[in-house]
Amino acid sequence: VAPSTTAPKSASVRELADAAGVILGTAMSAELLDDPQHTDTLIETFTSITPENDLKWEFIHPEPDAWNFGPVDRLVDFAEEHDLAVKGHALLWHQTAVHATPDWVLAIDDPDELRTAMREHITTVMERYDGRIDRWDVVNEPLQTVGAEVEDTHFRKVLGDGYLAEALGMARQADVDAELCINETTAELIPAKADALVRLAEGLVADGAPLDCVGIQAHLFGGTVEEGVIAGLVERLAALDVDVAITELDVPVLPDAPDPLEVQADTYRTAFAECFAAGCREITLWGFTDRHTWIDGYLGPGRAPLPFDEDYRPKPALEAIREELAWLADDADGDGTGG
Ligand code: G3I
Repeated sequence: VAPSTTAPKSASVRELADAAGVILGTAMSAELLDDPQHTDTLIETFTSITPENDLKWEFIHPEPDAWNFGPVDRLVDFAEEHDLAVKGHALLWHQTAVHATPDWVLAIDDPDELRTAMREHITTVMERYDGRIDRWDVVNEPLQTVGAEVEDTHFRKVLGDGYLAEALGMARQADVDAELCINETTAELIPAKADALVRLAEGLVADGAPLDCVGIQAHLFGGTVEEGVIAGLVERLAALDVDVAITELDVPVLPDAPDPLEVQADTYRTAFAECFAAGCREITLWGFTDRHTWIDGYLGPGRAPLPFDEDYRPKPALEAIREELAWLADDADGDGTGG
């Protein structure tokens, strides 16, 4: 097929994403706003940002009467200045092993009291960013991390399985226009967990909960993803009439494997190609430069999971992303034939 000329050869990755009509996002911490190399590369490449940590309950609302809006305010101002969308991450995340939910919330055992705290938190945060944050992870990681059951979080222990629908309902009341999501990890790695995620979303939709989207995080720890897995999961979720996105993509390289950067680029290519072909409208990466990645702390240094290296030089993975977006932008009629 002869290449079409819809997107100029010199187009930036960001322009290609816009021309393709998709969201290309990255996680971002407010502290990096002071680094012009970071912000310049981000503005040139992405169309959306997700606060990596600053919006988590632990950070933004550490005590019942203490709110720390400054970092998210700065991120939202930056986004507005540079015409970037913002995704809110995350209103509820039960995690106790890492900073996510403050101890004072985990100490509330009375259901009505916990509901009141959840409603106040969700409403206060969403109303503050009304019209400026257009989509939200209302509940992050409702399933067991490496199992296939609903995680018995503090919220579930106190409120029962209905806590998910309750949280979504509170979010809908706080902002009728926002897109409301659940966001899950390792569903693309554990087949039984993929089934559980589809069942969970199906149940919420069947019960009339205001669920608009499901996020597949896609931290691809194995360095590759089996062909068809992402396409299959996205298709099953999209069939429920919700938007589906990859929300936290990163691809650690395998130490000592041959051609690590090429394998990594192929994995990014597969994720992009399958997600968009199966109906995603967004892919967000969990950062973009190997200089700042949570993987260094989690798997150890040197796993270089992102498409720019530590000095902000593009890696083969960025070229793969560029090519996939260019192809998508050229596929103007959306018939999957590239023209
Ligand atoms: O900012 C505090 C600092 O004040 C404190 O002294 C220090 C001591 O531990 O911690 C600092 O906070 C750290 C924070 O990142 C900001 O750097 C936390 O310890 C650390 O646990 C936290 O890790 C984040 C993690 O979520 C837990 O919130 C990672 O950066 C972030 O990339 C990671 O992101 C998650 C997504 O939200 C959900 N999906 C999985 C993904 C990876 O774990």
